[in-house]
Amino acid sequence: MIKPKLQMALDQNTLAEAVAIAHLAGPIVDIVEVGTILELQEGQQSIRVFRKMFPDKIIASDTKCADAGSTVAQNSKDAGADLMTVIDSATIATMKSAKSVLDGIQVELYTAWSWELAEQWKEIGIKQVIYHQSRDALLAGEVWGDKDLNIVKKFIELGFEISVTGGLDLNTIKLFEGVPVTTFIAGRAITGQDNPAKAAQDFQDEIRKYWP
Ligand code: 5RP
Repeated sequence: MIKPKLQMALDQNTLAEAVAIAHLAGPIVDIVEVGTILELQEGQQSIRVFRKMFPDKIIASDTKCADAGSTVAQNSKDAGADLMTVIDSATIATMKSAKSVLDGIQVELYTAWSWELAEQWKEIGIKQVIYHQSRDALLAGEVWGDKDLNIVKKFIELGFEISVTGGLDLNTIKLFEGVPVTTFIAGRAITGQDNPAKAAQDFQDEIRKYWP
């Protein structure tokens, strides 16, 4: 089974803070993400900076785009992003227009998805979804468990590449043992630590333990 990638979500309020963390942990992760919070604060400039810092890495733009798909995708692509998120409640037209500009469109799952919609995403060529526990849901007491695992497995059976995110820590990884997850996305468990490089390496080691 292929080892899942590790994506670091940079959800800082300033680009300077995000750059400082990326210098430390960026070389260790597989994908560097401009998180939604940083997108809203510092926009496409963040993508340009990380593309320059990490010319050989995958750069993700977590826009959670809900409309104007082709424009937002073009902006992300021009800045240097390989991946960009659209929110599950966006229309098929928005997703299709984003996909026409940037191949790496990922649908981020919150509460507005269904298996019927997933079939439609496949029909327009979308191959990647992000299974997300929102930070607000986690704060309200949600936990990772079998219900999540079953949904993840079903998306994989349908042929999607799946990323998993939302309050992940080292203990969450083993829950997915034996499941061909494409990417684990961790934010605060890396970026909020005193030593982000060590935290990123600990994630990579934990992933390798279960996907040797
Ligand atoms: C917020 C996000 C986060 O980037 C993602 O959930 C990872 O962050 P954390 O591990 O800190 O929850 O998409 O909308």
